[in-house]
Amino acid sequence: MTGFYYGQHNLCLEKVSKKTAELSLLAKGDGTEVMIQKIHAGNYFVVSPGDNEELMEFSYILEGQITYQQGDRSVTIKPGEYFYSHKLDEDIYLKAESNVTMLYISTQPIFHLLSNEIEELNKINSMIEKKDINTEKHNERVRNYCNKISKKISLSYEKFENLMFAAVYHDIGKINVPDAILLKPASLSEEEFEYIKKHPTDGRKLFEKTYLCDIGEIIEQHHERLDGSGYPFGLKDEEICIEAKIVAVLDSYDAMTSDRPYRKGLSAKIAMEELKRFAGIHYDKKIVEIFEEVLKEEGIL
Ligand SMILES: [Fe+2]
Ligand SMILES: [Fe+2]
Repeated sequence: MTGFYYGQHNLCLEKVSKKTAELSLLAKGDGTEVMIQKIHAGNYFVVSPGDNEELMEFSYILEGQITYQQGDRSVTIKPGEYFYSHKLDEDIYLKAESNVTMLYISTQPIFHLLSNEIEELNKINSMIEKKDINTEKHNERVRNYCNKISKKISLSYEKFENLMFAAVYHDIGKINVPDAILLKPASLSEEEFEYIKKHPTDGRKLFEKTYLCDIGEIIEQHHERLDGSGYPFGLKDEEICIEAKIVAVLDSYDAMTSDRPYRKGLSAKIAMEELKRFAGIHYDKKIVEIFEEVLKEEGIL
């Protein structure tokens, strides 16, 4: 979703309807989300500090009236007026006195917490995690290290956000791999491996029609290798996006260090030696170097 975009009336990336409110995502970019929020008359809603202290939320009233309590005085916010919060200490409770429509801008992604489409994909993701106990928490560990690595390289905020989402969902396409293959307690035959090879593209397809479609490319490329020996396309170095190169290093590291029914996980030291052996061949050299730095800082190496 780059370039110029003209949003016609009632068109949005996704609309979420709840009993008390409705939220439509109109635009997103560089972490910022622009939404229209409707709150039905008589309902309370809350503006919270949130986990991320960078978060700034802005609401401009287009229709209706809102009240909130400031000390012992009730304040009414009317159309043409607005409120915003940044580095908030406590929850602020507000009430929609009539049907309210607001333009709502958040500087950090929040829509995924409410999105029906993402909720469905979360269910698929946890189904795979539950099914494959050997890779339980694999996505979380990959995401955690992606986060640490991206803090050490200059990645635009947009790429960073996409990387964080892609790390969580990179293996979601495994939902289409038959259990007998996914859970096989031994090495796979060539034919069985053909099924595994489909999971990056299947993962991309699952995101294709969602507002997070941009992460599809990272998901599809996370098993590509610099020398073209990866799958599904055998892309080479410059054809692979940086976010997929980061996921590739951490995904491989986590796979090597995790126990499998047919083998014990490697130590961090041996897994790192392996990554270094294939740095510049399979994996991006710089990313492997930075990852080694991260593991040293954590006292793991
Ligand atoms: Fe994968
Ligand atoms: Fe993975």
